[in-house]
Amino acid sequence: MAIERTLSIIKPDATRRNLTGKINAKFEDAGLRIIAQKRIQLTEAQAGKFYEVHKERPFYGELCEFMASAPVVVQVLEGENAIAKNREVMGATNPADAAPGTVRAEFAESVGENSVHGSDAPETAAEEIAFYFSGLELVG
Ligand code: CMP
Repeated sequence: MAIERTLSIIKPDATRRNLTGKINAKFEDAGLRIIAQKRIQLTEAQAGKFYEVHKERPFYGELCEFMASAPVVVQVLEGENAIAKNREVMGATNPADAAPGTVRAEFAESVGENSVHGSDAPETAAEEIAFYFSGLELVG
């Protein structure tokens, strides 16, 4: 199995409820290493650029507004099959469909305010990591 890196975001609904540590514990318990992490405040324009792929979706405006509503924690997770493993730990996008024990089953408030984001493929992981982190910040 390949060692991969993936971009993770702990979203405003979770930082607001002080859940960063509890969510990080789930990543670490699953064998994912947090090799870079910072807490930042996005503007709506920055959130819009990050989620540009969803520009035509009806929830795009709401999503950008939400992502800029409080600080987020952006992080790089590393490990064997990190992209798929992180998606397993997060659970389904809609918390109503998320398996028990997953981050979204335990903490997400709705499909929009769903506590975490994770990259969905190697190409998007590389792009999303580069969106938030410089090479100098990735120390492994
Ligand atoms: P995320 O994994 O960050 O990728 C895109 C985000 O859009 C998704 O998580 C949700 O937060 C949001 N999203 C997806 N579907 C909907 C929806 N039907 N209504 C509102 N937000 C949504």
